[in-house]
Amino acid sequence: MANRRTFRWPSLLTEGGRGIAFGGDYNPDQWSEDIWDEDIRLMKQAGVNTVALAIFSWDRIQPEEHRWEFGWLDRIIDKLGKAGIAVDLASATATAPLWLYETHSEVLPHDKFGHPINAGSRQSWSPTSPVFKEYALTLCRKLAERYGDNPTVTAWHMGNEYGWNNRYDYCDNALHAFRAWCERKYGTIGALNQAWGTTFWGQEMNGFDEVLIPRFMGADSMVNPGQKLDFERFGNDMLLDFYKAERDAIAEICPDKPFTTNFMVSTDQCCMDYADWAGEVDFVSNDHYFHEGESHIDELFCSDALMDALALGKPWYVMEHSTSAVQWKDLNTRKRKGETVRDSIAHVAMGADAINFFQWRASAFGAESFHSAMVPHAGEDTRLYRQVCELGAALKTLGDAGVQGTELVPSGTAILFSAESEWATRSETLPSKKLNHWHDVRDWYRAFLDAGTRADIVPLKYDWSGYRTVVLPTVLILSGEDVNRLERFVRGGGTVVVGYATGLIDENFHTWLGGYPGAGDGVLRGMLGIRGEEFNILGAEAAGEPCEIHLSNGMTTRLWQNDINVDDDGVDVLATYAGEEADEWDLDGTAAITRNAYGEGSAYFVGCDLDVADLAMFITTGLNPAERGDRNASQESGPHYDPITTLHTERAGAEVAFDFYLPRGKHEVKIDGVEGEPVYRFRCDEGTEPGSYAIHRNGVLVIKR
Ligand code: GLA
Ligand code: GLA
Repeated sequence: MANRRTFRWPSLLTEGGRGIAFGGDYNPDQWSEDIWDEDIRLMKQAGVNTVALAIFSWDRIQPEEHRWEFGWLDRIIDKLGKAGIAVDLASATATAPLWLYETHSEVLPHDKFGHPINAGSRQSWSPTSPVFKEYALTLCRKLAERYGDNPTVTAWHMGNEYGWNNRYDYCDNALHAFRAWCERKYGTIGALNQAWGTTFWGQEMNGFDEVLIPRFMGADSMVNPGQKLDFERFGNDMLLDFYKAERDAIAEICPDKPFTTNFMVSTDQCCMDYADWAGEVDFVSNDHYFHEGESHIDELFCSDALMDALALGKPWYVMEHSTSAVQWKDLNTRKRKGETVRDSIAHVAMGADAINFFQWRASAFGAESFHSAMVPHAGEDTRLYRQVCELGAALKTLGDAGVQGTELVPSGTAILFSAESEWATRSETLPSKKLNHWHDVRDWYRAFLDAGTRADIVPLKYDWSGYRTVVLPTVLILSGEDVNRLERFVRGGGTVVVGYATGLIDENFHTWLGGYPGAGDGVLRGMLGIRGEEFNILGAEAAGEPCEIHLSNGMTTRLWQNDINVDDDGVDVLATYAGEEADEWDLDGTAAITRNAYGEGSAYFVGCDLDVADLAMFITTGLNPAERGDRNASQESGPHYDPITTLHTERAGAEVAFDFYLPRGKHEVKIDGVEGEPVYRFRCDEGTEPGSYAIHRNGVLVIKR
């Protein structure tokens, strides 16, 4: 984080450049030019003020190696500019033109079997190919030369979802780059042998020329987890280097416009270690696609909480979401009544100052023609387009009221996220293949909401020391330095909650010894006042295997229990395993959840997996309100509402603050005693008493103070 780039936000073409950005990916190259004026008329009618342009247009811009065609791009940028619509111009490198593969098939990535990936979709290029990089950077420079001074282009949209298709590349370029990467990281082969533990299975290397990438080694062969973890880091670094090379090629010619690239943070994916990437963009952007079902709004908030942390509390950009259904799931559910507008305002509530969609006009052909868009196949006279217009007006209202630039007010609790632990939980060599760090973060996030409070989510490698409480769910990897930070935090009065599979291995995937969780050579154990000897793993589907174990406080665990000794007098045992199943496993009476007073603070151990309801019960009955970092708890003054069924966020600036209220579930929520001006109401009625409101399902209330 040391060299983090300064926050820069793209201006709009409005007076003063201000306003909430609204629009989407625009692919005019899929349509004949005679539709463009109609596009612009509809954009203006909807209040669109920004589009992301040319993401997949390399072949149109450079149809042959020595032929450049900018005319079409000049014309559409000119039309957009005249209409007051700003352009995030893509580096256009997400898809390479087919002619490139005819002359340079070596740019193709390889799968783990060593076969080249075929061209014909997206990102069919190897991030470590010097040839590909040269072509890509030439394109970047050409774009910068041509559009660097164009006032309609107000930001650079680098690549697109880097890594989504070419995250893992096993070509020879990757092999050589990995050897060099290992040499830079470890210096000597001895250090690398030590880190990867190559005395195991006789894999000691004599020099960096013997380093391998984890290509397919046969059907039942297990990969060295340390090597695999480094290969994950390497893949992340290569794509980040590629992004930086593209950015710098443009910045040399056009330094004064902000750079971004769209991250992919939703709780089913977190492709890259975005904690590293966030320092290399001028503003942070995300693509978020909704989860259908009852977790919909919770999941959106959870993803956005991580985005807000990556943005360091500054406003961030929704580069893509959907007006309704996508086309890439097995069943593509459309959005329910109100959700098109509600989801967008929910992102604003969580700190977004830009609301954009994939894509402007639904494609008539190609892989994504059944993906929803701002203008659907049925055209202008549709409910969906009218909702898009309604949303444009709403964002204008919020922009005019001064929301833009205000910052999300943090909570008192941080759930810590670690991309490396997320990668590590995917290893095939753990006691259970059912571990998932990011899903456990999401479960804790939802549990805090069920307990009537809202946590933040912060990357482990960022500074979380200002929080009152930190939670570490399945943070499998903790380094000695991580543990020292935790120890200082608790000693100084903080509360830490350590989950069941946290702190088991170090940054090289070496198991910390001496008893679980051994992180920091016993420092973590010492803080918790416990020592684990074995894991008890459930979830096997064999007949007769118990599938759950009960706790003395009525909770249930279904996946993983730590068989621990409580070795310190000061430790409170908050729950034990109890009952017949526990007894079968020799766990009856063994501590399941503990609290240890340590220094000025306290350290909790939740030694088994629990579902969201049980985690919420732990939060309400285990933690005290101060430890919950509960901003909503002290509702003696201020508005009255049920904090479990109503989401509340606050965005504050130097002179104004905004409260956002949204129902979480199916039912209408009531809120009264609100002071301030209702600047925006969606599916929300004013009550008879001043300051009272009823917000219907999928509604929103925004109050200005
Ligand atoms: C086989 C191998 C051992 C070890 C065990 C693990 O028997 O020979 O080296 O891998 O499996 O169960
Ligand atoms: C991603 C891509 C878009 C489009 C959408 C579809 O986010 O960036 O080009 O494919 O998915 O949901």
